[in-house]
Amino acid sequence: MLTNNVVIAHRGASGYAPEHTFSSYDMSQFDMKADYIELDVQMTLDGEIIIMHDETVERTSGLPGVIKEMTLKEIKQLDVGSWYNKQFPELQRDYFIGQTIPTLEDVIGRYGAVNYYIETKAPEVYPGMEERLVEVLDKHGLLSLERLQNNQTVIQSFSLESLIKVHHLVPAMPLLLLTKKGVLRQMTDDALLKIHEFVYAVGPSIKDLDAPLIKRMHQLGFLVFPYTLNEPEDMKQLIAAGIDGAFTNYADRLRTAFNMD
Ligand code: G3P
Ligand code: CA
Repeated sequence: MLTNNVVIAHRGASGYAPEHTFSSYDMSQFDMKADYIELDVQMTLDGEIIIMHDETVERTSGLPGVIKEMTLKEIKQLDVGSWYNKQFPELQRDYFIGQTIPTLEDVIGRYGAVNYYIETKAPEVYPGMEERLVEVLDKHGLLSLERLQNNQTVIQSFSLESLIKVHHLVPAMPLLLLTKKGVLRQMTDDALLKIHEFVYAVGPSIKDLDAPLIKRMHQLGFLVFPYTLNEPEDMKQLIAAGIDGAFTNYADRLRTAFNMD
């Protein structure tokens, strides 16, 4: 049911390979056996859901470009692997060169019905993104009641509005609310209980987390999956404090910290 010791491969195995590429997802799934692949979704000018953290392509391709102004054909010409070799020469691999930006359909085509933790990124920039996302997931059979009840397809967002939209489209969809540092602490129990009517988990920044906050979230009924938990010492501390899982660039380390290997 994926409710404890949950290992979410943040942008794939992005501690070892260029984020949001097949090389990164392959490693997280085949070598590290992460429970989920984490995907950040954006939408092209021609309405394709692609997987990319930023709203622009510059950081990982080295070329300027705003995704909402680019077609899929333009996006597909970019190399988003080479930057990694330059930035992390100690981790460089020849096969990272020429990795391309995947569409959501590319990912599903390669990995099939594995578990996906999908973030609607900058939903205010992409009107209709939630509808298109649901359409693609449905087309590939990823919205079966069984999958949703087992938390195998999950949508996450910093935008409560986006989560509400998804909830209206697919009432059984498991949802996680991401929060920046300080936000969760400022929310009242009443507000959180209202959100818990359709949101099963919270994703606070690790910078915001301690045992009392985790306990409060559990008492309100939420599971707690912080981001981004990369250092073994932090893993040890937050596991002892009661987290249910986490987003990590190092799925191997988190599995070890959970005593899963
Ligand atoms: O989705 C969890 C975490 O990834 C949120 O931060 O900026 O890495 O998408 P970000
Ligand atoms: Ca994310």
